[in-house]
Amino acid sequence: MPVLPLMDILDRAFRERYGVAAFNVVNDLTLEAVVAAAAELSSPVIVQTSVKTVRSIGSKLLFAMWREITAGVDVPVSLHLDHCPDRSVITECLKRGWNSVLFDGSRLPVEENLRQTAEVVIEARHYGAHVEGEIEPITGVEDGIGSDEDTGRESLDVALRFIRATGIDVFAPAIGNAHGMYKQTPHLDMQRVSDIVAVEPVPIALHGGTGMTDAQFVDLISRGCAKINISTALKMTFMQSSLAHLESARAKDKWDPPSLFTDVRAAVMEMARAHIRRFGSEGKAW
Ligand code: 13P
Repeated sequence: MPVLPLMDILDRAFRERYGVAAFNVVNDLTLEAVVAAAAELSSPVIVQTSVKTVRSIGSKLLFAMWREITAGVDVPVSLHLDHCPDRSVITECLKRGWNSVLFDGSRLPVEENLRQTAEVVIEARHYGAHVEGEIEPITGVEDGIGSDEDTGRESLDVALRFIRATGIDVFAPAIGNAHGMYKQTPHLDMQRVSDIVAVEPVPIALHGGTGMTDAQFVDLISRGCAKINISTALKMTFMQSSLAHLESARAKDKWDPPSLFTDVRAAVMEMARAHIRRFGSEGKAW
């Protein structure tokens, strides 16, 4: 079962209460490594691209990489555009074949965000694609988008009305989570997830996954967090395994790019395996 619409993957995870990792990849090597880890563990997986990655590689080449790398894969996989405030990039990716998008109108007044998100939902449906929505900026800067300032949360009523009125498929609430590395274990408003899901049962996207504890993941998944975003852990693994290889290459004065790729791929696969296992999606492929 190869490339699927996002909701084929998330509806099941939400119903059965396990989490599906959504890894932000940065190039062909990391894309291939997370897909390979999911295939090895018989797990569904979501591959995400930031706007920065779309711009740095180009949507045409990025989508061609996705198509080739997933061609022979027999676990459910889906391609998602992460935080995108730019409607032209949303349209570009939907036209190319991305399976879903997060329209990030969280810096807009709620009514304007609602209006534009509803438009994106209509546009996405035209391509058979799905939409994640958010009303509060997730604290932290991710690939040039966002801010370190905590801007607070909207009321439950506003969140519920946004979900209903826009027709979004996945909702990403702020619950005290943040992109990047936490300085200490975050204090999360788990109850907010339960309160939303009790009235509007849509799968919840958990942002800022890097650095949360196993207990927090277990609790949040049981409340309805079905999509769990991991970006910082992949970036750190990519950079640190590269650095370790390069330091050893310098010490030995031996410079062989393919062996650098082998080491980085192994490290990224290990990081992906660890998260897939923590979220309970191992063996859940169909
Ligand atoms: P981290 O950078 O904390 O892993 O969060 C990823 C994320 O939420 C991407 O949208």
